[in-house]
Amino acid sequence: MKKRFLSIVGARPQFIKAALVSKELRKKSEEILVHTGQHYDKELSQYFFDALDIPEPDYNLGVGSHGHGQQTGKMLIGIEKLITEEEPDLVLVYGDTNSTLAGSLAAVKLGVRSAHVEAGLRSYDRSMPEEVNRVVADHTSDILFCPTKTSVDNLKKENITRGVHLVGDVMYDLALGSKSMALKRNTHEGFDLPPNDYLLVTVHRPVNTDDKKNLGEIASALMESDMPVIFPAHPRAVKFLKRFRLYDRLKKNIQLTKPVDYLDFLNLLLNCKKVATDSGGVQKEAYFFGKPCITLRKRTEWVETVEDGWNTLVGADKKKIAQAVKGFKPRGKRKKHYGNGTAVKKICRILEERG
Ligand code: UD1
Ligand code: UDP
Repeated sequence: MKKRFLSIVGARPQFIKAALVSKELRKKSEEILVHTGQHYDKELSQYFFDALDIPEPDYNLGVGSHGHGQQTGKMLIGIEKLITEEEPDLVLVYGDTNSTLAGSLAAVKLGVRSAHVEAGLRSYDRSMPEEVNRVVADHTSDILFCPTKTSVDNLKKENITRGVHLVGDVMYDLALGSKSMALKRNTHEGFDLPPNDYLLVTVHRPVNTDDKKNLGEIASALMESDMPVIFPAHPRAVKFLKRFRLYDRLKKNIQLTKPVDYLDFLNLLLNCKKVATDSGGVQKEAYFFGKPCITLRKRTEWVETVEDGWNTLVGADKKKIAQAVKGFKPRGKRKKHYGNGTAVKKICRILEERG
């Protein structure tokens, strides 16, 4: 009999992580794809289903934006109902968002097995909502798919050794496979972006967006950059830039635009000189493609990128950001921390055998 998996996605990075797994899994198994509705703007959701040809979700819970409790609670209620009705063999969750947390909790409370893709990541900063989500997902999952050796070691420190598989990073698989398609995009049309001589920026972490001082420091550093800057801004950043009256000034000085789809973003990344970001995924993608990364955070879960000298942690300090934009140069060689592009195949094989 075919195995039956219930996969939970809800936010931009999860559509990206699930894209290849979903396709591969459906070759031999049945997948019920659930979109929690955490991200609902087309730029954060539908764009990814279109660009990456992800199967349409079987269910959309339409939870929308709320505080953590209400958002996660609404997801829990919806996912619990679906697990009860659909009776999957296993629930599959990705990454570290509230959709991950709700999927993991709903499954464990019903006694249904679950698997976590991107397990074992730790920034050791509990003020990040994602850190709490990761810990819960890892401690409730039966199968843990780790992208890196560090993530396996992190789990070991928490006494999690059963069901742990070092498979590599699904985002690496996707990035490798999408490069040539991304380069065919005419993403640069309508922008002034000299090839290999502009800064690509993303900002969406609450510590940066919701804090007037931090967002102000980041915005000032970007406005003072000698290099042209493109910033496809997450709606959370736009909301607070407007609230703190920074939006108009920033828009006059840099190329501020709506979020773009995965292939356009990869195109912008492949052609830029440096990246400045607080995203987890973007730090990795910069490393995959050899772009120096300035991380607007004090800590990262992708420690290898920093240890190898390709990523520098500057927080929201205007001076440090400006210095890094001008002067940060990677020192070391990049290594194969993220596998060899076969993470998706490994995950699906393990799920088919043990799911
Ligand atoms: C969420 C995840 C974060 C992930 C990020 C990826 C949590 C706790 N956070 O953060 O881990 O890195 O997604 O992008 O799960 N909004 C819109 N349109 C949308 C969605 C959101 O305008 O389609 C705005 C709303 O004002 C909302 C705010 O963005 O209040 C935050 O959205 P939310 O999903 O709560 O968190 P993110 O910051 O997107
Ligand atoms: N991304 C995108 N368009 C954008 C900005 C980012 O497609 O305008 C992609 C990026 O390539 C990466 C992913 O979004 O694969 C990262 O997601 P995000 O930064 O929202 O979340 P995080 O990784 O921090 O959880």
